[in-house]
Amino acid sequence: MSVAVVVGMQWGDEGKGKVIDLLSEEADVIARYAGGHNAGHTIVFDGNQHILHLIPSGIFHSGKLCIIGNGVVIDPAALIHEMDLLKNAGINLDEQLVISDRANIILPYHGTFDKGRENSNNFEKIGTTGRGIGPSYADKIARSGIRACDYRNERYLRKKLESNYQEKNSIFRDLYGKELPSCESMFEDLMGYQETILKYIGDTHVLLRNKIEQKKKVLCEGAQGTMLDVDHGTYPFVTSSNSTSGGASTGLGIPPTQIDRVVGVIKAYTTRVGEGPFPTELHNKDGEKLRKEGHEFGSTTGRPRRCGWFDAVVARYAIRLNGIDAMAITKLDVLDRFDTLKVCTGYKYKGKIFEEMPADLDVLENGEPVYTQFEGWNQSTVKAENFNELPDKAKRYVDGLQSIMGIGFLMISTGPERNQTIHQGTLF
Ligand code: IMP
Repeated sequence: MSVAVVVGMQWGDEGKGKVIDLLSEEADVIARYAGGHNAGHTIVFDGNQHILHLIPSGIFHSGKLCIIGNGVVIDPAALIHEMDLLKNAGINLDEQLVISDRANIILPYHGTFDKGRENSNNFEKIGTTGRGIGPSYADKIARSGIRACDYRNERYLRKKLESNYQEKNSIFRDLYGKELPSCESMFEDLMGYQETILKYIGDTHVLLRNKIEQKKKVLCEGAQGTMLDVDHGTYPFVTSSNSTSGGASTGLGIPPTQIDRVVGVIKAYTTRVGEGPFPTELHNKDGEKLRKEGHEFGSTTGRPRRCGWFDAVVARYAIRLNGIDAMAITKLDVLDRFDTLKVCTGYKYKGKIFEEMPADLDVLENGEPVYTQFEGWNQSTVKAENFNELPDKAKRYVDGLQSIMGIGFLMISTGPERNQTIHQGTLF
């Protein structure tokens, strides 16, 4: 077994950063396959917190190769800022980081259009991170995007930027009656990153293929979560990439036949940032308590996250859609002080119970969650080193989730630090 994918099972923010950091111990290569600097993967060790937006969460393990795949969209300024932070923290990026020369570049006007749409009355508000993710993927699919390899040919890059700029500027003028900053200044800004980009780019498909042939262990890092997938999530309230496991294949150039296993990361309750349906959302003191105890504020934008009970319809959908064969549950400790916990097993809508995820958002928006209840344990789970050390009622909750979902937990996380984790198996 040599290739595994780690995928978020809810609306992002499941704690993938911590899980990938821990699983990286077993891997030789950690490769991010989708999204951009909209993601925020938090890793805590030795009392210090690190938030990564673009660079894979394996970077803190020296000697492990970290790849940013072709499926990722890269804002050069954000990338270089993150690289500088890591270099200052003593990470040797020259030995550890390779960026796909096929990855698309986020340009300043992508962010401008993203924010413009969000603030306009003409469009439905998605609650994006404002990082230009949607507009840059739109250009990629429209075949007008600028790729990292274009930095190798300055003339070509200038020509591409000029033709894109003309189109974008006329739309911008029509929509907002303003001009974008000049094309020349944009080109100069872009060229300011050329040296760094050229130093780190390479053909990551070939690199990964060689590693897989050498039986090296490859961990494919997902960003966002299943319900934010552009095809399978709560469209249009989604991100603009395939965050599900299929995205690992296209976003890294790894054939599906070479993916051996898929691990899903799921929080012990549910959160969501931005707009869109959220059937188990709590607008009461339990929701407030989850936000407070779980420090549920976005690691990229700082926005308060919406909080709610565990949704097993979402979880089962994620398992089947991604082909998940093991899971990691995170933030169990956040539930340490509740008398009762609820788990949604279906949505009741117009007299019918939905146990499968519907495409129609009306069911999610207006359906009523059908709940199973669990008793809370009102004790700390933080110091538990193995499953048996958990309070009995916490064991019952975890076992209950496993039996509702039909698969087991490889890892149970009871705090942000690496050692606040119960390990129940290995990845490879
Ligand atoms: P975008 O990806 O910035 O276009 O945002 C689209 C939707 O995805 C918004 O609801 C965002 O809040 C959400 N989103 C994007 N990235 C993340 C993430 O890493 N965690 C949680 N939500 C995210």
